[in-house]
Amino acid sequence: MTHDNSPLHVIRDLLWTILLVNYEILRSIFKWFIPNKRKDVRGEVVLITGTGHGMGREMALRFARLGAKVVCVDINPQSNEETYNMITSELGYAFKYVCDVTDRAAVMALAEKVRKDVGDVDILVNNAGIMPCKPFLQQTEKEIRLMMDINVNANIWLIQAFLPAMVERNHGHIVAMSSMAGLMGLRNLVPYCGSKYAVRGIMESLAIELRSEPRDTSGIKFTTICPYIVNTGLCKKPRIRFQSLMKVIEAGDAADIIVDAVLRDLLEITIPTRLYYSNRFGYRLLPLTAAAIFLDFFDTGVEAHDD
Ligand SMILES: NC(=O)c1ccc[n+]([C@@H]2O[C@H](COP(=O)([O-])OP(=O)(O)OC[C@H]3O[C@@H](n4cnc5c(N)ncnc54)[C@H](O)[C@@H]3O)[C@@H](O)[C@H]2O)c1
Repeated sequence: MTHDNSPLHVIRDLLWTILLVNYEILRSIFKWFIPNKRKDVRGEVVLITGTGHGMGREMALRFARLGAKVVCVDINPQSNEETYNMITSELGYAFKYVCDVTDRAAVMALAEKVRKDVGDVDILVNNAGIMPCKPFLQQTEKEIRLMMDINVNANIWLIQAFLPAMVERNHGHIVAMSSMAGLMGLRNLVPYCGSKYAVRGIMESLAIELRSEPRDTSGIKFTTICPYIVNTGLCKKPRIRFQSLMKVIEAGDAADIIVDAVLRDLLEITIPTRLYYSNRFGYRLLPLTAAAIFLDFFDTGVEAHDD
């Protein structure tokens, strides 16, 4: 992009920018009070990774109940088959594929197969993830590399596999599972926090990059989900001082919130939702030393454990 930097043009650009920024702020405030209506996903192809367990399974069931064609992807054939059977026994529409999402070639082959068997993917949910949980210096190279491959690189491979068709049709939605650990630093989770911050970075920068595509990409939506502690077994030893304030959420309840956020095209949410504002307007505005003292008071997080 080239700019005319003569004083008159700079003043004109600045005034126009201020106008647009104010418009977007007002639009966000309006959307906060009156969110988008839930979109219709009947007949849409929804591909979810990690459907063999936890939130992936629960999301798959919910999208199928909404009439979507759900493509279930997991490394574990048995548990993925269970999810597939649960959907089809409710007369839902499902497909199942075994894929290790860390394997880029396997992901590209999966995309080709899904396109032939089911059609273009409308909603991609990058959900598969793992969480080694112990002090930083005790985490092994193998654990860390595997976690980065699943939590970060797999997101990139899947987006590279399915985004081109979305851009082609100017239609699609990419959903990523970050975490509250992607919004704040937590002990025993140093590499995991890094992976979940990375997920948010990938989603944000991709949305920014697509804005400057020469063709219209406004039909492609992004949703990043930041759950706190969800009862799936991933977080084996949660530590919560104020149970009523930050209780562990059931996977089905989390999936209800996630699906609702996707249907309303929300950009980023936390689960529970109120943590978004306490993080953004509380924790993030404080110096880190002060925020850490608040964390000590709330004393929530996860204890170290071996798998
Ligand atoms: N559970 C929580 O408390 C919590 C909190 C914040 C964020 N998250 C994130 O939400 C997502 C889902 O978490 P969950 O608790 O439902 O997980 P889960 O452990 O219940 O299920 C994860 C699924 O991913 C599959 N999987 C793992 N490696 C894979 C691979 N290489 N290829 C394909 N599939 C693979 C597993 O087989 C499993 O079925 C993860 O990204 C996680 O980091 C979870």
